[in-house]
Amino acid sequence: MPKRKRTSDQPSDQPSPANVPSLLPQKKHYRQRAHANPFSDHALVYPASPAEYDWSTHYPAFAGSGKTPAFADIGCGFGGLLITLAPLFPDTLMLGLEIRVQVTQYVHDRIAALRATSAPQISPHPSSYQNVSVIRANAMKFLPNFFPKASLTSLFFLFPDPHFKARKHKARIISSTLLAEYAYILAPGGLVYTITDVQDLAQWMRAHLEAHPLFQFVEEEELRKEGKGPILDAVYGSTEEGKKVERNGGEKWLACFRRIEMHRQAPPT
Ligand SMILES: C[S@@+](CC[C@H](N)C(=O)[O-])C[C@H]1O[C@@H](n2cnc3c(N)ncnc32)[C@H](O)[C@@H]1O
Repeated sequence: MPKRKRTSDQPSDQPSPANVPSLLPQKKHYRQRAHANPFSDHALVYPASPAEYDWSTHYPAFAGSGKTPAFADIGCGFGGLLITLAPLFPDTLMLGLEIRVQVTQYVHDRIAALRATSAPQISPHPSSYQNVSVIRANAMKFLPNFFPKASLTSLFFLFPDPHFKARKHKARIISSTLLAEYAYILAPGGLVYTITDVQDLAQWMRAHLEAHPLFQFVEEEELRKEGKGPILDAVYGSTEEGKKVERNGGEKWLACFRRIEMHRQAPPT
């Protein structure tokens, strides 16, 4: 089958061989280059402020609830994390952000197929995937346009592009500048989950997060004691990249951080 070309910005709802609801989409219909340059002009559409964004088109079963996404999967790829977490937290809205058009379309079609085939009569139902969605977005830009301040409880960076060469490090999704935005949209107590199979990137992400005054490293064991085990298991093994690393016998480095509050010092008396 020839590759489908898509020029529009956001995923299309038009039926296509790959998004017939009763069929799960096949990745082979959605191939595109492995990398997208985050500094290119992707002609992305974004709201002027979070208040202007209509989440009901993403989560129709939650329309009128006033809810906005609480989990954001940055660079969600083919959506494995979202699909795994959706039934575990049926009342939590989750959003994947993905820069590649065809990959976003795949996740969109995958969610549409799952919604259509799992318990459509009893919605929202724990397994009806009403609480997950995806947008095509460059997560290095405009995040505060989508998410209100302190609205997220979890931010995921799973196997992000490593951008190995030093001159490409500016394209890494964790940087001092971007951490300020992540801290803004995360609620105090919220968590950042990072995982990679690239040791240099693991060190980079950890060093940047540790250097930031609003993030504090949390041991995996502590999070498991807090009941975050199912999330951590999904972080390790639910995504396409995570599975690939496993197949290849690669190592995975996990590092999690809590968004803390800055306590203002009392003025000197
Ligand atoms: C190596 S893949 C990992 C995908 C997924 N997290 C996984 O574990 O399978 C990195 C993904 O991040 C996406 N990405 C890279 N830069 C991005 C950006 N600035 N905004 C949104 N997505 C981005 C890429 O298109 C790619 O799908």
